[in-house]
Amino acid sequence: MTILVRTETPDDHDAIRSVNKAAFGVSVEADLVDRLRADGDLLLSLVAEGENGIVGYCGFSRLIIDANDKHANGVSLGPVAVLPREQKHGVGQKMVREGVARLKAMGETLIIVLGEPAYYSRFGFDVAAASAFRTPYDGPYLQALRLSDDAPAGGDVRYAAAFAGL
Ligand SMILES: CC(C)(COP(=O)(O)OP(=O)(O)OC[C@H]1O[C@@H](n2cnc3c(N)ncnc32)[C@H](O)[C@@H]1OP(=O)(O)O)[C@@H](O)C(=O)NCCC(=O)NCCS
Repeated sequence: MTILVRTETPDDHDAIRSVNKAAFGVSVEADLVDRLRADGDLLLSLVAEGENGIVGYCGFSRLIIDANDKHANGVSLGPVAVLPREQKHGVGQKMVREGVARLKAMGETLIIVLGEPAYYSRFGFDVAAASAFRTPYDGPYLQALRLSDDAPAGGDVRYAAAFAGL
């Protein structure tokens, strides 16, 4: 199947909910995306579209990193979701790679993700690179990807308000 990764449009909102609910089996991530969007906190919102419609979703939201009385921008990756019947065919990787490339082109310097290192390490995400950041999700699943040498090296990470509802 040919897959196109593109920015979401308002016509995609229902399909994005369906993809997230089908992939995760609960409504938590679908609700999170709706709240992030309503709050204006979705920095980049990508869908993967096949011949029969939307099969994948990948969202990125703004993070603020506080260090030494200064505030720097970062980006949170997630949720990433692919319809169960379409999983393991490269859709997730295509969305993440497109998102990372676009964020780099936008001048973003740091992306943080909470997820399986076995999956996210293929994109360059690294547990060690996240060790100097303090988040509500610290632990072995927190990983960071530095997109430039002037990326923040550490600090206290503030997620978008929607994450507090999780
Ligand atoms: C995780 C997910 C987005 C990956 O998308 P996908 O299109 O199925 O994955 P891809 O085809 O791009 O990549 C397949 C590879 O990822 C690996 N993989 C998939 N899910 C994984 C997981 N949870 N942990 C570790 N590896 C995983 C596969 O084993 C495969 O590895 P290989 O390339 O070494 O064979 C998708 O499986 C999904 O929607 N899962 C349910 C929701 C979820 O857990 N999302 C991630 C948390 S935000």
